[in-house]
Amino acid sequence: MSKLICLGIESTAHTFSIGIVTENEEILADEKSTYKPSLGKGIVPHEARDHHEKVKKKILEEALRKVNLNLENIDIISYSAGPGLPPSLLVGANFALEFANKYRKTLIPVNHPCAHIEIGKLKTNAKDPVLVYLSGGNTQIIAYAEGYYRIFGETEDMPIGNALDVAARKLGLPMPGGPEIEKLAKKGKYVELPYIVKGMDLSFSGIVTAAGEKFKRGARPEDIAYSIQETCFAMLTEVTERALAHTGKEDVLLVGGVAANKRLQEMLRTMCQERGANFFVVPQVYSGDCGSMIAWTGLLAYKHKKIPKIKDKILPKWRIDQVPWFQT
Ligand code: ATP
Ligand code: FE2
Repeated sequence: MSKLICLGIESTAHTFSIGIVTENEEILADEKSTYKPSLGKGIVPHEARDHHEKVKKKILEEALRKVNLNLENIDIISYSAGPGLPPSLLVGANFALEFANKYRKTLIPVNHPCAHIEIGKLKTNAKDPVLVYLSGGNTQIIAYAEGYYRIFGETEDMPIGNALDVAARKLGLPMPGGPEIEKLAKKGKYVELPYIVKGMDLSFSGIVTAAGEKFKRGARPEDIAYSIQETCFAMLTEVTERALAHTGKEDVLLVGGVAANKRLQEMLRTMCQERGANFFVVPQVYSGDCGSMIAWTGLLAYKHKKIPKIKDKILPKWRIDQVPWFQT
């Protein structure tokens, strides 16, 4: 029997992407196009939707051309069903539905955070890790227990990626802000900012506000960038360490768009070394939103008979701890 092939569609926020993977863990294609808001603006949902509508056919054609296949040769179609921005989510969901109906393929809704985790596990040797999932829309410290990925700690307000993006805008830097802050921080010195950890939960919005005020009062942008990173990443490292202690797990896996940050990696790695834990990070090509993570997770759901049963085609507030899952 030939190996199963899954095509996955990602469109939760700014990125429209299509990936094609096989059950032999081969990523055959991963095409994407990212909507960029104009300078000074955050993501405008209807603009993101229009972007996705405009590029979807081209991205599909490019992905199929890469693998020299047409849709009839694909076994399974999966799509990111949430969480995310409804206008963006609908583009991917409708596109997936159209092909699943036309070519009579199994259609699998995928939870986006779960996909960030599964691509991280596929690309590293992490075994049953504490998961540190940090992106523009999410900040969660997660661990698997008894049939679910459980959330041990999360943000009470802004996600870390969003906090970095908002802070970058205040400093007049282009989007996405995270990499810009990282570059600028290399030349910075520490200025004091609030440090807010409550139990296992974190809060970033007060830090961003304080940083903006300090900047207005004349603090150097590089010092603001440095201090935001040091403060927020120390908070995240503290909560991750506590999750390791609570769960008794021995590995940490960092995933999501913010995982690309080298200073964050360094702080988590140092903490792990001091505790005798192993640190893993998703390779940068797969840290941001991509279709291959949705395709791979769809394939896993299919093979492990864990296809999520959802009542609407998109779930803008879908949490990972609502998805019955298995340990890979
Ligand atoms: P999700 O739906 O998972 O929240 P997302 O829409 O935020 O995903 P991702 O591609 O996972 O998309 O993450 C994007 C975020 O990652 C942005 O906030 C961006 O600033 C941040 N980011 C990217 N590179 C870096 C970096 N080097 N340092 C810090 N943050 C980064
Ligand atoms: Fe994401």
